[in-house]
Amino acid sequence: MAPLPSSLVPFSLLFFALLPSILSLPDRYDVQTLAAIDQSPDSQRNDLDWEWQRTGFHFQPVKNWMNGPLFYKGVYHLFYQWNPYAAVWGNITWGHAVSTDLIHWKYVKELALVPDRWYDIKGVWSGSATIVNGKPILLYTGWTNSSTQVQNKAVPKNSSDPLLREWIKVDAENPFAVPPPGINTSDFRDPTTAWIGQDGLWRTAVGSKYRANDTGIILQYRSKDFAKWELLDESLHAVNGTGMWECPDFFPVAVHGQQGSENYLGEENAIQKFVIKVSLDETRFDTYVVGDYDPASEKFLPSFEALDIGTALRYDYGIYYASKSFYDPHKKRRVLLGWINEADKPTSDIRKGWASVQAIPRVVWLDENQHSLRQWPVPEINSLRKHPIRHTDLLLKQGEVFKVNGSQGSQLDIEVTFQIPKAHANDESDEFNFASSRVEGIPNNTLIYCNGSFPEAEQIIGPFGVHVLASEDLRERTSVFFKFLKFKGSWKTMVCNDLTSSSLASDATKGVYGGLVSLSSYKNRQALTMRILVDHSIVETFAQGGRTCITARSYPLLGSDNNAHIFVFNNGSLPVKATHLAVWKMDKIRYTTV
Ligand SMILES: *[C@@H]1O[C@H](CO)[C@@H](O)[C@H](O)[C@H]1NC(C)=O
Ligand SMILES: *[C@@H]1O[C@H](CO)[C@@H](O)[C@H](O)[C@H]1NC(C)=O
Ligand SMILES: *[C@@H]1O[C@H](CO)[C@@H](O)[C@H](O)[C@H]1NC(C)=O
Ligand SMILES: *[C@@H]1O[C@H](CO)[C@@H](O)[C@H](O)[C@H]1NC(C)=O
Ligand SMILES: *[C@@H]1O[C@H](CO)[C@@H](O)[C@H](O)[C@H]1NC(C)=O
Ligand SMILES: *[C@@H]1O[C@H](CO)[C@@H](O)[C@H](O)[C@H]1NC(C)=O
Ligand SMILES: *[C@@H]1O[C@H](CO)[C@@H](O)[C@H](O)[C@H]1NC(C)=O
Ligand SMILES: *[C@@H]1O[C@H](CO)[C@@H](O)[C@H](O)[C@H]1NC(C)=O
Ligand SMILES: *[C@@H]1O[C@H](CO)[C@@H](O)[C@H](O)[C@H]1NC(C)=O
Ligand SMILES: *[C@@H]1O[C@H](CO)[C@@H](O)[C@H](O)[C@H]1NC(C)=O
Repeated sequence: MAPLPSSLVPFSLLFFALLPSILSLPDRYDVQTLAAIDQSPDSQRNDLDWEWQRTGFHFQPVKNWMNGPLFYKGVYHLFYQWNPYAAVWGNITWGHAVSTDLIHWKYVKELALVPDRWYDIKGVWSGSATIVNGKPILLYTGWTNSSTQVQNKAVPKNSSDPLLREWIKVDAENPFAVPPPGINTSDFRDPTTAWIGQDGLWRTAVGSKYRANDTGIILQYRSKDFAKWELLDESLHAVNGTGMWECPDFFPVAVHGQQGSENYLGEENAIQKFVIKVSLDETRFDTYVVGDYDPASEKFLPSFEALDIGTALRYDYGIYYASKSFYDPHKKRRVLLGWINEADKPTSDIRKGWASVQAIPRVVWLDENQHSLRQWPVPEINSLRKHPIRHTDLLLKQGEVFKVNGSQGSQLDIEVTFQIPKAHANDESDEFNFASSRVEGIPNNTLIYCNGSFPEAEQIIGPFGVHVLASEDLRERTSVFFKFLKFKGSWKTMVCNDLTSSSLASDATKGVYGGLVSLSSYKNRQALTMRILVDHSIVETFAQGGRTCITARSYPLLGSDNNAHIFVFNNGSLPVKATHLAVWKMDKIRYTTV
């Protein structure tokens, strides 16, 4: 149909209605029927430009890393890495969008930054925004005419303009930092939002890696005037064997409650902890660690060494990368913005004319366990909910699958609560071993718990959960589920997303994602909850109130729009009850330009 796009058209949202399924199937299936259906031959859609995969309520820049989000004069600003010329990486500029609710974005017609100086001519890469004396300043990485990564600064042309349309690079000061000795010229990028140290001077931090070995590090810089910056001897953090650290983030979290903070000084330390997050270039994971920060020595110490960067906690166990947080002074919260890549081939992206999407912004706060974070979609997203469907007390026997009537659609918000099955009534001690937290016994490959059989397990309960973006015949289904495993005498709870049957298309990566979910600090031990945001080709899962999150890409050929169904299922050996199920259709957002 359409020729290959020579330019990206991010504003045209087209949806194709699919042919109604010719198959009429019962409401309740058993596992044998499903297995038989799975044998049937593939059918391939090749007639469309795959525009039905375009998201309806996820902001869709093209493409790449997030840049400093910001709240200024009543407006949220989102800057994003964008190639104006193609749906592939290259010609990287800073696109700019504004919003008053973090959900309804408007594209700003002016690009914020484009490559036009010797110090950024090969690309204006990621960076961040800081309010300095009441006015925003951007710090960003430029790729120079000699292919070196350097740090630069830009200021608004008119800081009275709430839309901050135009930006000026400060030539006299740029670049303000070049790769120091011991650092490769290609391993020096992504300056953080700046903060003020105990000495009253500014700090910023840059992601890097030692040239001599595989140690990822965050370099720290200090400035009194935000113009001249000096490298500090001590790095903010470093971990052996983790490779290049991209998009570092460093922020305080309250020990109690959900309120955000931007105070990096000592006086609040008794009631706050600090988070360091980095994006690991080698694995493409956003990993983080919670710890204590001493503003006098400027040293960060992980609360648990076993949970340090790269070894344990991830923001998200699916596709979620290059995230950035910012303090939202309007709602006094810390908000996280992340980037969701495609999981199909670049040739498909070129054909679609777009690639990669912005995750729904998440509020972030410290879990009661004090060592991991919780994340939850900003409540503003709830304004898109309409036509709720509710069910209570659906009992799912072994191998049962229920279709949720009236829930067709590719734009949904789903909340489910399951009652945890009593593993074996005689075993008083069996409470799924709530004491086993992430701190000990973390398996280094959690995926083996999600898919297939796991012969080492002493006992398995589940999987039970929800199929979304499912065709009526269930040949296509994206499965989000819980599973309990007893292993070496202790129970693990997993939340998983199985994409192996998500699409009949052959070009999509169809993996299995999974993470452990901690029950130890969960008050209602009888209940397991999941919230799933479905938006055409995106499935974002928040398990146990946002204790474990999984973002996945699913490209169904059959199970889209009115032919996309929801099923609740139990493929385990013990009965499970879905005590509450709610499904909302989500409004489509029309993104306009301002
Ligand atoms: C970058 O832009 C130039 C035009 O300015 C174009 O010729 C080139 O193909 C673009 N490269 C990519 C990778 O998009
Ligand atoms: C890069 O630009 C600078 C400033 O114009 C110039 O001095 C330098 O020679 C250029 N380097 C290359 C490799 O072109
Ligand atoms: C700066 O922005 C303000 C607010 O939008 C506007 O009133 C003013 O005219 C602008 N100044 C210039 C020099 O463009
Ligand atoms: C340094 O960067 C160059 C690319 O600029 C790369 O080819 C080289 O392998 C890097 N060296 C190390 C030690 O990482
Ligand atoms: C990596 O190299 C740096 C700089 O040479 C050095 O300080 C550090 O100890 C090295 N780390 C390891 C694990 O060898
Ligand atoms: C990192 O490597 C250095 C140098 O080899 C070593 O002294 C240090 O113990 C290592 N740290 C960890 C946590 O393994
Ligand atoms: C869906 O509707 C059918 C009748 O149309 C009914 O038999 C079935 O129980 C309903 N399923 C659920 C889960 O409510
Ligand atoms: C986990 O790591 C340990 C030690 O590095 C290794 O012996 C073990 O085989 C790993 N297990 C899995 C499942 O990868
Ligand atoms: C489970 O999933 C992982 C990752 O997708 C894969 O490497 C592994 O082979 C799968 N195992 C089974 C038994 O399917
Ligand atoms: C249910 O479990 C069986 C046996 O482990 C497996 O073959 C089948 O694919 C599973 N079905 C679903 C829908 O997960």
